[in-house]
This record gives sequence, structure tokens and C-alpha cells, in this order.
Amino acid sequence: MRFDVVSLFPGVFDSVLDYGVSARALDRGIVRFRTWNPRDYSTDAYQSIDDRPYGGGPGMVMLAEPLEAALAAARADLEREGLNPYVIYFSPRGGRLDQEKVLTLARKPALTLVCGRYEGVDERLLRQSVAEEISLGDFVLSGGEVAALALMDAVIRQLPGVLGNAASALEESFADGLLDGPCFTRPEVWRGVAVPEVLRSGDHAAIARWRLKMSLGTTWERRPDLLARRGMSSDEQGLLDEYRRERGLGDKAI
Ligand SMILES: C[S@@+](CC[C@H](N)C(=O)[O-])C[C@H]1O[C@@H](n2cnc3c(N)ncnc32)[C@H](O)[C@@H]1O
Repeated sequence: MRFDVVSLFPGVFDSVLDYGVSARALDRGIVRFRTWNPRDYSTDAYQSIDDRPYGGGPGMVMLAEPLEAALAAARADLEREGLNPYVIYFSPRGGRLDQEKVLTLARKPALTLVCGRYEGVDERLLRQSVAEEISLGDFVLSGGEVAALALMDAVIRQLPGVLGNAASALEESFADGLLDGPCFTRPEVWRGVAVPEVLRSGDHAAIARWRLKMSLGTTWERRPDLLARRGMSSDEQGLLDEYRRERGLGDKAI
């Protein structure tokens, strides 16, 4: 899969992509990554990339022209490989990034990610060149770079061959519409608290049942909206009832 990022601060990406899962995916050639700086495509003597907003107000707006030229350069480079990119702009007004969106995007062969700065980007460029606007959440970042890194990280770990253990992605939060339950490692007793007996039993069926129960319970307690959307089988409902009974928790509307 190929990522092309249009950003005024391409150096931001080195610091994160050089580590861990992303670095391995790049090393193995599962992922390719290239940045395009709109400043390199500015045509005036000052290499301008922004200007004052029409109608007044604080801050500056990114110019359409250098962004269009950067996107055209990226597109031409991708076309040489027969790739047609899906272009995303990061914005607080976009659709919220979630795991379902991550999985959809992970099936695309090439994503081009446009990072805004200042007050944002001239609307005409967005209407002409962007397929989708995506938000990281209901807060305002100083730029789209952090959102692009979050999206790339989440997408990369879904690509075949990236995670050391392929089961990891299948067992983590959201994979089955549920949150992950608690996990433990050595020592067996820490500050007087023992690891749950079942996890030390070696009984794989009992461990799987316990993990599903904890997943259902954690989701019920923390994100009832997820559980309501997903629904439960009668067996799962039984496990959740058991979770509640064990903790003396009453019925909470879901
Ligand atoms: C300071 S923000 C601009 C905020 C914009 N004037 C507004 O009020 O919605 C600069 C850039 O950061 C990025 N950004 C800010 N918040 C974001 C969020 N929640 N999700 C994704 N990108 C965001 C966008 O690319 C945006 O153009």
C-alpha cells in the first residue's frame, strides 16, 4: 500500500514512522510512503503557501494553487505505477475516524492525505480534489499531520503481513465490535494482586470464555453504545449476566 502525504512539515512523519510496526512495514516494502510539500510548488518569489481570509478574521488560509500542484505531482507519480489515489483531507468537520473506516481504507491501494494548517484550506481546492474529509475527534489540532499519523498507524497494522502475530489484529478492540478486556503478565502476584486463576490454568476453552466475558463486560461498562449497535447472542448475554452477577452490578440500560 502506498501513502502520499501533502504537508508543510514533512519532517514530522520521520519521527513516528521510524519506529515499531510502521517501521517494519516500510522495511518489508508492505507500505511505501512519500511526502509532498506545497511550498516546493509555490510559484511566487516568497514561496507563499497561505494568504489572508476573504471576509476578514484571524489567521491565514492555505492557497489552493500550491496544494493543487503538489497533488498533481503526487498523482502523476502514482499514475506511473498504475495507482489511482483516494484523497483525504483532515478536518474537524469530517466524519469521525473509527475502526470500520480504518478497515475500509486498508483495502485501498493508495491513499493521499492532505494536512491542513493555519485556519484551513481554500474550500475550492477541497471541493475539486478531495474525496473525503476525516476528523480525529471533536477537538482542534494545529495541523492535519497528527491525524495523518494516527490514520496511517491504524491502517498499517491491518495490512496482511505487518503484525508479527496475525491473530493480534483479530483479537484487539473493535475487531468484533467489542473492547478488549484486561491483560496480565509476570509476576504472578504483584503488590498482593494475583493474575486471575483461569489465565494460569492452561485450559484454552476456559480462557477464551473468560476473555469474551471480560470483553463483553468492559464494553457494557465503558461503551454501551458499541454493545447496543453490535447486539449479543444468547450465550453472550449469559456471559454478560455472569459478569454483572460476579461484580454485584445491576441492570444498566443498553
Ligand atoms: C487550526 S486547524 C483549523 C481549524 C478550523 N479553522 C476550524 O475551526 O475547524 C488546522 C488544521 O488542523 C487539522 N485539524 C484540526 N483539527 C482536526 C481534527 N479534529 N481532525 C483532523 N484534522 C484536524 C486540519 O487539517 C485543519 O485544517
